[in-house]
Amino acid sequence: MSTSTQFLVPPHAEPADSVLPLWRFIPRFIRNPLRALPAQIYTDRFVLREGARRTVWIAAPDLIEKVLLTDTTHVAKSAIERRALGPALGDGILTSDGAAWRWQRRTAAPLFRHADILALAPIMVAAAEDQVAEWRAVPWPQRRPVDRDMDETTFKIISRTMFAGGVDGEFAMIQSAGGEFLGAITWELAAAILNLPRWMWHPGKAVIARSAERMRGAVAALLVRRRAVGATGDDITARMIRARDPETGAPMSDAQIIDNLLTFLAAGHETTAKALTWALYLLARAPEWQDRIVDEVRRVAGADRLTAAHVVDLKITQQVVKEAMRLYPPAPVITRIAKAPITLDDRTIAAGTMIIIPIYAVHRHRALWDTPDVFDPARFAPEREATYARAQFMPFGAGPRICIGMSFAMIEATLLLATFVRGALFHWDSVHNPEPVSRITLRPRGGMPLLVSKR
Ligand code: HEM
Repeated sequence: MSTSTQFLVPPHAEPADSVLPLWRFIPRFIRNPLRALPAQIYTDRFVLREGARRTVWIAAPDLIEKVLLTDTTHVAKSAIERRALGPALGDGILTSDGAAWRWQRRTAAPLFRHADILALAPIMVAAAEDQVAEWRAVPWPQRRPVDRDMDETTFKIISRTMFAGGVDGEFAMIQSAGGEFLGAITWELAAAILNLPRWMWHPGKAVIARSAERMRGAVAALLVRRRAVGATGDDITARMIRARDPETGAPMSDAQIIDNLLTFLAAGHETTAKALTWALYLLARAPEWQDRIVDEVRRVAGADRLTAAHVVDLKITQQVVKEAMRLYPPAPVITRIAKAPITLDDRTIAAGTMIIIPIYAVHRHRALWDTPDVFDPARFAPEREATYARAQFMPFGAGPRICIGMSFAMIEATLLLATFVRGALFHWDSVHNPEPVSRITLRPRGGMPLLVSKR
């Protein structure tokens, strides 16, 4: 590996010096929840805050497995996350629990079989090639908002794969409403942490309500269009319309269908877009890894268009995707609530405690990784990756609530990154070093302008 990459330490969100009392925690949290993480969570197995809003942050992989895989009946999705996401995602698959969740997950699961996802590769590659053509249309290097380009490309892909093309025209609206919604989300999360009554005014409240309504309106219109032509086919809309509750035999209500369609639309593009945005930033700063990807694509596919069959051999590309998601996990934090007492090492965590799995900090934990803040895709070479504990690298979560779109996202991110890098060169202008900011997904503060030119 060349020296420059070896020492590339890209931006990091500095944690708080200690476990902050709520009055100091909240303002930092609103600015960037990652700055409100206690510094000890980067070195300790877990950190507990007693008193008002008892909270435990857990970083040790074996303890994370205990909470998310073993003692699953002792934990539930947190009311805080449900309150914040509820206006948009209601009681859909991401936010619900128990029997209501199980039914929705089983309804959607057949769409996510690995072999069926591979069959979607031509749609993914075509969208990536359109993006490359747009970049290459200008003969000189141009400054591009790469974050927005990634949102647009992954939105096209989710629309054309999971929604039978049904929301192609809604990108600009969903993007602006989704941006406003997530932009204000830390206010709503803070209101939930402080247990403010739901009716109480706080900054961001009206924005959240208005933007959620706009997004739900667009998805409701899609549902009306689909009902009019009949729920044939095997896209997500048709599946949700045909689904029947195994206990009551009842179909999903329109509100429930809209909850799920919006969940798949949002979760299915925004996260992958952020993974690719950060990957391109890191590659712009470590151009030797761009060269390695180009060599790999040449070796694997020659001058041919990439296909599903190439994915397994695009090993370097996958290592870069994984290292980008280690440093910048697109969903940086998972939250739960303890329904019953849970034992962590020698401590008993009381029921009612808020549980935070700070994936971002687990991925940079001082006891788990060598040079944790350094960009080094070689740490995902197969022989090294095999030595990591299951929950040490967990961009997609773990346990029964693991991301349903994991294969979809990995195949998509691999094919897109390889197609982008073989067709275009990404340069960093040495000025914009965006702080990673958590707004449910991990955004670059100030966006991600990069210089892009023809390769
Ligand atoms: C790089 C891309 C992605 C990342 C990093 C990611 C991350 C995650 C994580 C961490 C969770 C677990 C949340 C929790 O336990 O609280 C999750 C759940 C989920 N993801 Fe993804 N995701 C990605 C792509 C996708 C895609 C492409 C789809 C759909 C096409 C999707 C749909 C979902 C859904 C529906 C859930 C809820 C699953 C459940 O609760 O049963 N995600 N995702």
